[in-house]
Amino acid sequence: MRRKVVAGNWKMNKRLDEAVALAEALLTVEVPAGTDVILGVPHVFLDRVVKLTEASSIMVAAQNCHAADGGAYTGEVSVPMLTSVGIDAVILGHSERRAQFGEDESLLADKVNAVLAGGLTPIFCCGEPLSVREAEGQNAFVEAQISGSLFGLTDEQMAKIIVAYEPIWAIGTGVTASPEQAQDMHHAIRTMIRARFGDQIADNLSILYGGSVKPANAGELFSQPDVDGGLVGGASLKAQDFSDIIAASA
Ligand code: PGA
Repeated sequence: MRRKVVAGNWKMNKRLDEAVALAEALLTVEVPAGTDVILGVPHVFLDRVVKLTEASSIMVAAQNCHAADGGAYTGEVSVPMLTSVGIDAVILGHSERRAQFGEDESLLADKVNAVLAGGLTPIFCCGEPLSVREAEGQNAFVEAQISGSLFGLTDEQMAKIIVAYEPIWAIGTGVTASPEQAQDMHHAIRTMIRARFGDQIADNLSILYGGSVKPANAGELFSQPDVDGGLVGGASLKAQDFSDIIAASA
């Protein structure tokens, strides 16, 4: 059965006291049956947020990791470090990391493999810039991102992936993809996964929409047949907004 997922991406926001207050406020949220809630937390707060949410159904994700298990990589964080803290998932290939830190398909394939080897769930982000959307090249663009990083996986590995489609023109802009635009791309993603991995994996794959998801638009987006929840940036920083978005996944 395909799960709905509402994941927050806190990005580089909050200080420790604020992160703790946000996680604590979310402990009382009623999570609809069939929905998984995941908080994408800055590395420095992971241990604390894992401990705070341990007794709840809330899961915790890192926003990045290194592909190597350890070694001379000053400032980086490995999957074994993350698993030792007890997190559940890692956001990979966010457009901000692709654009600002030069992450490409092959590096992301290595990171996906490392995260899977550590027993964590990769939340694999993809999505096109505005220029590509204007030229109607979005499907080919996203297909190249997905095939370049995920098509080398085994069926067993692919069954553990969550995909997040985040059109770059909708991230942090207040401009949301229309429910039809989201549905079209999510259907295209499921179709390419079906062609490579077969019906069962395609039908069970959770594909999240990201890009200016708000309480006011979440319900309509999440009710599209191929939209299985959201990856939420700005609105995940406010407990009430994020709770309302979680409720919209019911
Ligand atoms: P946004 O960010 O909800 O603030 O647009 C989404 C994301 O970048 O994951």
